[in-house]
Amino acid sequence: MQRHPYDLIPELAGLATYADAARIGYSVDENVQRLLRYHWIERRLMASLVARLTGEPIWELKCAFALHQWLHAEHVDALRERISEMRNPVPSLDTSPDPGIDALLDDVFGEARTSRELVAAVYDVAYPALAADYREHLATINPLVDHPTRRILRSALADLEEGMAWGARALDALAGAVSAERAPSPSPSFHPRRDERFHGLYNFDFPPHVVYNAHGIPADERNLALLCKRTLEMDVPEMMASFMTERVDQPWEFYRDYSRQLWDEARHAMMGSVALEARGIDWKREIPLNVSFALRLNLHAKPVERQMMLFAIEQSLMPADTGKRFEYETARAAGDELSAHFHDYDWADEVLHSQIGRRALKREGITSEEARGRAVGVHEKTWAALDRYRHLDAQQAWWGPFVRKALGHESAVGDADLGPINIFSE
Ligand SMILES: [Fe+2]
Ligand SMILES: [Fe+2]
Ligand SMILES: [Fe+2]
Repeated sequence: MQRHPYDLIPELAGLATYADAARIGYSVDENVQRLLRYHWIERRLMASLVARLTGEPIWELKCAFALHQWLHAEHVDALRERISEMRNPVPSLDTSPDPGIDALLDDVFGEARTSRELVAAVYDVAYPALAADYREHLATINPLVDHPTRRILRSALADLEEGMAWGARALDALAGAVSAERAPSPSPSFHPRRDERFHGLYNFDFPPHVVYNAHGIPADERNLALLCKRTLEMDVPEMMASFMTERVDQPWEFYRDYSRQLWDEARHAMMGSVALEARGIDWKREIPLNVSFALRLNLHAKPVERQMMLFAIEQSLMPADTGKRFEYETARAAGDELSAHFHDYDWADEVLHSQIGRRALKREGITSEEARGRAVGVHEKTWAALDRYRHLDAQQAWWGPFVRKALGHESAVGDADLGPINIFSE
């Protein structure tokens, strides 16, 4: 064959050589059958991580579950799209293509009785098995004719590999922790739990809820309150996980949108922790990050009531003078660039969330006004339900000493009575 200099330019857009692209891969039908399986496994993994997040006590595992459940949702979304592109009719995507998959995953998760066993089941059993399927699939398909599938699976595989690497390091760490062997509730429980480094789970007085926008408090103290509030935002994933799990017959968009929101809320909590770490604050031990929000809603409200409550709270964050803009400006006024950066994005995410909430409720014929109205009643009844748990912890004042230690000066709140901290807030 005659060679021209142009012939040296990587052929086929650089995807493969002519020889590699001459391989016969899976047929469209076979491809669809396999993708349906992956789709279902990804979806089950997502649901399993969501279902375990609230009852999982270890903070770092909650963070990872929040990320990984969203990555699974992204994979599910891409696979659904790809399946729908490969000729009609689109098979049902909301039922299992093979009961064997469910039985296998039920076994893997069912045997995980402790945090360590759960991490091993997900990252050392389920992920490697799925990654092996993806590698085999990528090695078999024709890289040119099935490039759209290849792109999706390569990206999903990279996510799984990062998850496995995280899981391996987590398992190493857990091997040295006796308490990781303590059995969490064997069935997914939506009673929120925190690990032994935390305290005051049932100390429901959380002054940051009122300090951040209280009159006469300087910006540095209000900003510190915001950082505490951000860190407490883990209670939103802990709440969302319950309605995402208990509402079983929703369209895929419901799970996809709330999955993204769950990850955002966990990231907001992590942003708070990053800012506190940057100040050298031992936030896990010093701040009583109570579990009241998820506790009262998960155990004392219906799933759709929890959704309405979340929506109403996010709506309440939108006014410029008291909501997310005000929070961002508080961080700026305090001269805390990192906090301002975090609140800039927290604000953007929360705007997205209020749209997600509105869409989800609209699909069920619930208007924004109705949701806001009903949320008031849900707030009141679930707030009252907290009385059953108050005895579990001392309702201790902690803000004054915390401010003194964190900021090096007295709190401007002083001994003033903040009043009962019964806020309509996350
Ligand atoms: Fe939030
Ligand atoms: Fe947030
Ligand atoms: Fe939110």
